[in-house]
Amino acid sequence: MLVLPGLLVALLGWALALDPALEDGWRGWKSFHAKEYPEEDEGFRKETWAKNLRRIKQHNLEASQGKHSYHLEMNHFGDLTDEEFNQVLNGFIPDTAQQPGGMEFLFQELASPATPKEVDWRVKGYVTPVKDQGLCGSCWAFSATGALEGLVFNKTGKLVQLSEQNLMDCSWKLGNSGCHGGYITRAFQYVRDNGGINSEHVYPYLGQDDWHCRYNTRDKAANCTSFRLVKQGSEAALEQAVAAVGPVSVAVDARNFKFRFYRKGVFNDSHCSRTVNHAMLAVGYGTTQEDGKSKDYWILKNSWSEFWGEQGYIRLWKGDNHCGVANQASFPVL
Ligand SMILES: *[C@@H]1O[C@H](CO)[C@@H](O)[C@H](O)[C@H]1NC(C)=O
Ligand SMILES: *[C@@H]1O[C@H](CO)[C@@H](O)[C@H](O)[C@H]1NC(C)=O
Ligand SMILES: *[C@@H]1O[C@H](CO)[C@@H](O)[C@H](O)[C@H]1NC(C)=O
Repeated sequence: MLVLPGLLVALLGWALALDPALEDGWRGWKSFHAKEYPEEDEGFRKETWAKNLRRIKQHNLEASQGKHSYHLEMNHFGDLTDEEFNQVLNGFIPDTAQQPGGMEFLFQELASPATPKEVDWRVKGYVTPVKDQGLCGSCWAFSATGALEGLVFNKTGKLVQLSEQNLMDCSWKLGNSGCHGGYITRAFQYVRDNGGINSEHVYPYLGQDDWHCRYNTRDKAANCTSFRLVKQGSEAALEQAVAAVGPVSVAVDARNFKFRFYRKGVFNDSHCSRTVNHAMLAVGYGTTQEDGKSKDYWILKNSWSEFWGEQGYIRLWKGDNHCGVANQASFPVL
């Protein structure tokens, strides 16, 4: 009998790929997240997904042995490699002006802090539902609207979703780059210079770049007169800002795949650096008891949909400037 070597190799590969459980998982994941690929991409995407799944399972196995304080879960980012994910999603540009020097804008910790033990602005009505930036590096805009939304609620008693697309389309001149990243502080600056920002309702999110600014003065939904930088690296200052002001914009290092697939628990990853690249919103902080030890954490709102983390939020270890959470914090002044 004549066997063609190429065909044999192909058949072997096919048989190996045919792990029924894995195949079912892949099909279920694709259908749940409505993913479709051109035929030539399917193999690579499946391989990438399977690799991510292996790493997630490995971590959770270690977590069940007490080696980690948090769990991971497969989510809608499962078909992206680390490189792809970091290229697209982490669009925060650190503001180098936020070095010692610009003292007039600085929020510093007071000597005798009188902050509550726990703060959660969500239960006070300051926080809008978790949003989804999609495959666009616009985290900076979501962080900025989140901080503005909280302060607008404080001032008016009304919770209004504000427009990220407005910030993306209209702040190019200030150095922001839409889906390719931007500065939170320059988003506040835009609202101040422009004299307002529109609501999500009248200026909906597109998740892609548009050079055409469609801001409409008549539909102004919020104002901003200036902004404050929180003293760099000081979690004490950040805590006082969150307690006194409301939700505060922050940035973290989100490059590690463990951050991407975080599901629940207090995040504490030895690979997390203090070089920040992803903007989020600090909406509070608290303490939990685990294994007889008390653990402090920040509550951060993300813009990766409710499928990520604890219904869209992460609890991040507080006490070590973990992931650089206190390195680029700022908030607007209405
Ligand atoms: C707004 O903040 C002030 C001072 O921080 C507070 O006294 C007031 O109750 C807040 N308003 C609302 C609606 O939460
Ligand atoms: C914006 O500020 C102006 C002037 O301070 C004020 O009259 C107006 O009501 C504010 N608008 C909103 C939507 O907050
Ligand atoms: C975080 O992890 C480090 C190293 O794994 C450990 O030393 C530290 O105690 C952990 N902190 C908390 C609050 O779990």
